[in-house]
Amino acid sequence: MERVAPLWPVLAMLVFSVTPAHPSKCPKFCICDNIQLTVACIGKNLTEVPPTINEITVKLDLKGNNIQTLRTGAFLHTPYLTHLSLQRCNVRSVREGAFRGLGRLVFLNLANNNIDILYQESFDGLTSLKQLIIDHNRVEEIQPGAFSQLGFLNLLSLTHNQLVYIPNMAFQGLQNIKWLRLTHNSLNNLATEAFAGLLTLTRLSMDHNELQFFPTQTMTRLPELTRLDMGYNPMTYLGEETVSMSKLTHLFLDHMSLQDFSHMALMQAPRLTHLDLGHNQLRVLQPLLGPEKLARLVLAGNPVYCSCYLRPLREWAVRERVRLLGACAGPPHFSGDSLGTIHPADLRCQSQEAMLKAEQEEQSRATPPPTPKPAPKVKCPANCDCESETHHSSCENRGHTKVPRGFPPTTRLLDLRGNHFHYIPGNSFPGVAEVVSLHLQRCKMHEVEGGAFDGMKSLVYLYLSENDLSSLSPDVFRGVPQLTYLHLERNKFTQFPKAAFKLLPSLLALHLEHNSITRLEQGLLRGAERLRGLYLTANEIHAVSPKAFSPAPDLDTLHLGTNQLKEVPTDALGQVPSLAELRLSGNPIRWVPPKAFLPFAGSLKHLYLDGMGLEKMSKDSLAGLGSGLRSLLLEENQLEEVPDLAPLTGLEVINLSENPLLCDCPLLPLRKWIDKVNLKVRASCGNPPELQGRKVKDVHIFKSCPGELPPPTPAPKGPKPPKPTKPKPAHLNAPKSKPAKVKTKPRKSESQRTPAAAKATGKKSKLP
Ligand SMILES: *[C@@H]1O[C@H](CO)[C@@H](O)[C@H](O)[C@H]1NC(C)=O
Ligand SMILES: *[C@@H]1O[C@H](CO)[C@@H](O)[C@H](O)[C@H]1NC(C)=O
Repeated sequence: MERVAPLWPVLAMLVFSVTPAHPSKCPKFCICDNIQLTVACIGKNLTEVPPTINEITVKLDLKGNNIQTLRTGAFLHTPYLTHLSLQRCNVRSVREGAFRGLGRLVFLNLANNNIDILYQESFDGLTSLKQLIIDHNRVEEIQPGAFSQLGFLNLLSLTHNQLVYIPNMAFQGLQNIKWLRLTHNSLNNLATEAFAGLLTLTRLSMDHNELQFFPTQTMTRLPELTRLDMGYNPMTYLGEETVSMSKLTHLFLDHMSLQDFSHMALMQAPRLTHLDLGHNQLRVLQPLLGPEKLARLVLAGNPVYCSCYLRPLREWAVRERVRLLGACAGPPHFSGDSLGTIHPADLRCQSQEAMLKAEQEEQSRATPPPTPKPAPKVKCPANCDCESETHHSSCENRGHTKVPRGFPPTTRLLDLRGNHFHYIPGNSFPGVAEVVSLHLQRCKMHEVEGGAFDGMKSLVYLYLSENDLSSLSPDVFRGVPQLTYLHLERNKFTQFPKAAFKLLPSLLALHLEHNSITRLEQGLLRGAERLRGLYLTANEIHAVSPKAFSPAPDLDTLHLGTNQLKEVPTDALGQVPSLAELRLSGNPIRWVPPKAFLPFAGSLKHLYLDGMGLEKMSKDSLAGLGSGLRSLLLEENQLEEVPDLAPLTGLEVINLSENPLLCDCPLLPLRKWIDKVNLKVRASCGNPPELQGRKVKDVHIFKSCPGELPPPTPAPKGPKPPKPTKPKPAHLNAPKSKPAKVKTKPRKSESQRTPAAAKATGKKSKLP
């Protein structure tokens, strides 16, 4: 209720003058309380926000109407609102600036509507908002910047929506967020920087999603998180150091499909006190290393087998005072006994024979993610495990030489990694039409015959990485029309296997990193016309045909780093009208000519030109690039000068470090630019020798240049640069900004702000 002071006179007048018989300015169909200043128009089929609501209203309840579109400025006439309820209003679209003018709103409820996209400026103007509820909608896309104005938000709730993927920086701007709820979506993939900038988040709810792997890297971006709800996701194992979260105290991994949990999984979660592994498929668990204050470990609902192999865990629990919850599932004489009361000495392996058996079991369990099988009813090929509840089937690392047959027809994830197939003949996967994700990594395959996957009409993810493939038959992908993410990295391709992709109209991401492709020929992507990400890092590409990418109307991410290119393939890239991220790092490009990026400058957002040995960039090399460019990476080159960066007004990340910049008058424009922008530029002098290693922003040599560097203004007061008043969305990965050591003049612009965005990393490397 801050800042209501100016209202008091009005309020007093109302209290005295308004009688129930005189309902001033109450819209038809509404109930107004002019003392509480509330207006409720509930369940009235209204198609618009009533225009005659009293201006001084603080609570407005519009539940259960039929307002399909929230227009720009829909609430401009009620600027004092603190609470606004819009549940069940059939809202489909929230126009940019719909809530503009509601600078006092604290609580906004949009639950149970039909919103599908959160646009960049949907929540513009809500600068005081603390709670935003968007549960039970159909949100499938969050556009970058959607929440950038909500610097006071504490709670964002997006449960029961249709999110599949969270892109980098999706929640940027939420500088005070405490709790983010993403429960009951269909998330199967999170970008590495999905949670970048959420530096105050303490609780994240992501249960009831489709995550198959714990998103280790993504989670490291949440430094304050103490509680993570991850239950009800189809994960099968957690390997060593999977959870790397220094402040986490409560971790919920219940109701998943865990068959294996490494005793080192939590090595990097030292503060964990509560761990819930209930309702998984764990038969045994080793004493957990890492969390020294663990107080409670839930194993209820697991098929825990109380034999000598459980004894170390029980002894550890006694010693470390960890409360174990759950019961033995076997052997029969212990069945149902509580894990917390069973005496360690009673945990024995019965006979010689039983012991051997347990040992064997234990051994198979000790190889990477191993998989003992509790419930035997489902049909399943020999030497494989099939989970009926989660629809996962796995024969990982089992030494199979032929693709096994006879998996349950409902299988959705089929994991065949680490076998010795060498060759996959046609029609190798009959009867598994529901498989969404097929893993064939490390199977020593050198050939996959045409039609090998025929009939897998639900297949979306296919992993053929780390094999010996050098070519693909043109009809290898026959019968998999839904295939969207294809992994072919770390094989032996010397040519781009182009004919194979024409059968993949849904392909979005194609991974071919770490092969030996030497050239990109005309029409590579014909057929795969929806492709958005092409990853070719670490090949041997030295030539790119001008028509290589034509057509590629949707391609927005192209990684060509660590190849043998000697120049920017400008002509070829001119055929990529949506190119937003271009990586050329690590190619031997010495010179960037004029207009090198001009043909696609309009769409380009992230440009990586680091580590190339670049000696010179023409003055006009960046021609055309303007406010759209967000990142420019030029570190580790041989540049003595850089072109004018002034037109790049939208830059959030720039890196000029490790360049031998020549600190003399030609560099004056750079120096002036550095003084003007609020960015960490990381530029140091390489020459002249006496200035070597000094920061460009700290040297005085420019003062004597013909041209206009104004004399440094003395600092107004105090020796330190002013501190920002509230935390900014700090820059990820950025080294802590050290105030300049030079004692002369503290500058105002430096260290006042960190760049708003992080280096966006591989936006679409979707690994489910
Ligand atoms: C709501 O309005 C629609 C059309 O405007 C009408 O068909 C429907 O009967 C109304 N429902 C109620 C409850 O008034
Ligand atoms: C800038 O480049 C330097 C040198 O390679 C590197 O250490 C640093 O991490 C880079 N910073 C960013 C933000 O990319």
